[in-house]
Amino acid sequence: MKIIESPEELQKVTSNYRVQGKKIGFVPTMGFLHEGHEQLIRQAKQQNEIVVLSIFVNPLQFGEGEDLNHYPRDEEHDKEVARKLGVDIIFFPTVKNMYPTEPAIKLTVTKRTNVLCGKSRPGHFGGVVTVLAKLFHLCQPSSAYFGMKDAQQVAVVEALVNDLNFPVEIVPVPTVREPDGLAKSSRNVNLSPQEREEASAILKALQSGRKMIQDGETGIENVKTAVNTFIENNTHGKIDYIELLSYPSLEPVDKPMGQMILATAVKFERARLIDNLVFDSNGEII
Ligand code: PAF
Repeated sequence: MKIIESPEELQKVTSNYRVQGKKIGFVPTMGFLHEGHEQLIRQAKQQNEIVVLSIFVNPLQFGEGEDLNHYPRDEEHDKEVARKLGVDIIFFPTVKNMYPTEPAIKLTVTKRTNVLCGKSRPGHFGGVVTVLAKLFHLCQPSSAYFGMKDAQQVAVVEALVNDLNFPVEIVPVPTVREPDGLAKSSRNVNLSPQEREEASAILKALQSGRKMIQDGETGIENVKTAVNTFIENNTHGKIDYIELLSYPSLEPVDKPMGQMILATAVKFERARLIDNLVFDSNGEII
């Protein structure tokens, strides 16, 4: 496994692989790898000849009050996981490597961001797509892997590659879950034992909303209210949002149609959990 810090060196190495006709799979991360990341790496490994993993805590996607300096890091553990899973290259740049001077160009995302988590994080997705544009140029992947737990990020990244014609296939990878259905997240350790037990109600609530649509419910507000009531009745968490939108365009819908996302964010004492289901107008999971 090669560990590369320099953007120029990564671009040289990946150019060589491209000349040799090798398929490169790319897993961009901010490190502190968990099982969700492992799943992305495993899938990239199955579908490509070379796997590049980037670990970079991107300052551009942190807003005011979001503590960049306290973002969890564990380089040794991350290298160990990458080695175990057969990653070929870890790209581990410093902030100076990636942004030697204050960037003169930053991308702005004009759609898909004023809903769900994007609503309370102005500028966040602009930072995400700016760093991904750089990373795609450096890594030159055929495919890049993203977890559906952050379905809004997947929708925004799809818009990035479509709008700016990146020759990269975006591969959405299903959310990895605990046996009781709770989406795996590094934040779950911050739940108290009682909250941890209650948290499995989040997926159950989303599933009950999906079932309503499957059974013919056409009122979007009715579905959202039922999900809301389920979470309120089964947890002490505070609901941040419950939304039912078109997917991946993330626009409001009047009635079930096409691909949709039913998503929620719930705040517990020391952890804010997000989860979602993406399905069609018959309620079939996609
Ligand atoms: O999902 C993440 O960890 C980050 O947003 C990403 C895609 C690595 C960009 O910094």
